[in-house]
Amino acid sequence: MISDMNASDWWKQAVVYQVYPRSFRDANGDGIGDIRGVVSKIDYLAQLGVDAIWLSPFYPSELADGGYDVIDYRDVDPRLGTLGDFDDLVAAAHATGIKVIVDIVPNHTSNKHRFFQEALAAGPGSPARERYIFRPGRGEAGELPPNEWKSSFGGSAWERVDDGEWYLHLFAPEQPDLNWKHPDVRAEFERTLRFWADRGVDGFRIDVAHALAKDLDSLPLEELGRGRGADGLDPLWDRPEVHEIYRSWRRVFNEYEPARFAVAEAWVVPEHQRYYASTEELGQVFNFEFAKAGWRAEDFRRAIEEGLACAELSGSTSTWVLSNHDVPRHPSRFGLPQVAARVHHQLANDWLLRDGATYVEDRALGARRARAALLMEMGLPGSVYIYQGEELGLFEVATIPWDRLEDPQARRTAHGDAVKGRDGCRVPLPWSASDKPAPARWDETFGDGATGSFGFSAPVAGVPRTDAPSAPHLPQPLWYADFAADVQEADPSSMLSFYRRVLALRSELLAPTGDLSLTWMEPEALGAQPDQVIAFERPCADGKTLACVVNFGATDVPAPAGQLLVASGDLAPDGSIPTDTAAWFVC
Ligand code: NOJ
Ligand code: CA
Repeated sequence: MISDMNASDWWKQAVVYQVYPRSFRDANGDGIGDIRGVVSKIDYLAQLGVDAIWLSPFYPSELADGGYDVIDYRDVDPRLGTLGDFDDLVAAAHATGIKVIVDIVPNHTSNKHRFFQEALAAGPGSPARERYIFRPGRGEAGELPPNEWKSSFGGSAWERVDDGEWYLHLFAPEQPDLNWKHPDVRAEFERTLRFWADRGVDGFRIDVAHALAKDLDSLPLEELGRGRGADGLDPLWDRPEVHEIYRSWRRVFNEYEPARFAVAEAWVVPEHQRYYASTEELGQVFNFEFAKAGWRAEDFRRAIEEGLACAELSGSTSTWVLSNHDVPRHPSRFGLPQVAARVHHQLANDWLLRDGATYVEDRALGARRARAALLMEMGLPGSVYIYQGEELGLFEVATIPWDRLEDPQARRTAHGDAVKGRDGCRVPLPWSASDKPAPARWDETFGDGATGSFGFSAPVAGVPRTDAPSAPHLPQPLWYADFAADVQEADPSSMLSFYRRVLALRSELLAPTGDLSLTWMEPEALGAQPDQVIAFERPCADGKTLACVVNFGATDVPAPAGQLLVASGDLAPDGSIPTDTAAWFVC
């Protein structure tokens, strides 16, 4: 239990709002969200009640992977603004008490990064190539890749360059993997961390944190390609040597007062999450088991137990994530049929692959469950990460035409399965219903982009308009009108109003205690069926106890003792909690 919360512990129970900058708010009208757009919405974020924003990459990039192909880690993409704009953003956020977290992408650079350009120019055997992972090919003329490793975006993980050598890329070919055994690589990233920390950034989100250390030497590459290294471990993912890198980063974080914060994106088995979250390393790790869970009490119970156990073992706090820029939006996931699947989100990804035509997306059901899920996650001890547009109750845009997709996954296959990709959750946000575009000629269910953008590209006072006005970079469906922030602001029953209310209650009752304990309320004690509920108690501010009950079953669950504080939907006339509904009680 952590009871000595102080300024440097702000992140332990924070609500962090993820901004995917190119789709958040476009201030200059070129169709791409930008830094001034984020500045213009700081008041909105403060009113929502978030403690921090995490900005997905805004660095110069050719957008081979939505900005996760970084050309220069210490600059702002000119299409998104300038370093001066970034400084203004930090100042505006800090002025309202909001912290700023930036995304660090250390596993790979863009192929346009100076290091990679130098490596290409210098040729085989040169020191510049040592910063990446170049190898000769197999076959008589080296025409075959060094081994059979696959990229996470499908196809070979090796790409051949003009002089015949091959380089490793675990993601898109435009994202060559760095060699983390090289001192230049280490120095480059330590410099980058200090660069942003010196500019006032409060923390870092570390992309693919589990891939940096690789074994390419313990066995012949062809053998490594078939599975394990000589030490029996995976040669590419979640290797123990990676932790030494983060221990050195911790020393950098601790040069600052307060120490800078970091959270690892590490899709590793729950038992290993804790190493990344250790106080000697990054300090926190995403608990993706929660994001993977289907709408089933037992899935969430396991994810919560694993998250809490990991946090305790690492001396950190857990994180709760339902959506981010990599997964189908959760109101859609929860509105689709819930089936056991081989891999998480399989049904939702299948549905997307067929443009939303295969299964019925029951939006009323999805929204109802999303509201219940919010009460569940906001009641849990630790940090909550919310993804832009989630507070508007946005659904996945399943029908984007294939020729308008930007995600490299869409043109390839992910993990051996065909996918449509992640653009459906990255469509530019609807801020204003009245700026409604005319139906597009190519598909009248989308806006044409030219006559309106639901406020996404509307003018911002003091920001000059671009000479090249353009439609939002991904097409917006016309149904976005019903989800626009201004409509929801005026409606006390909207998802946005519900998010504001729940965040306010959380920061008033739960966050200030610093008490991370949770006591399960067993279904039987509540008069519920086994596996019907997620129900727990938490200590709250004025010595009282908060009880959170979420009903996943088919029948009502009797309300526990205490006074009703908030419910995600109407309760039954006798006060019991209906199916797919959650409520907080205090006593
Ligand atoms: C994880 C990021 O969240 C994702 O968007 C990206 O494609 C990969 N890492 C590669 O950087
Ligand atoms: Ca713009």
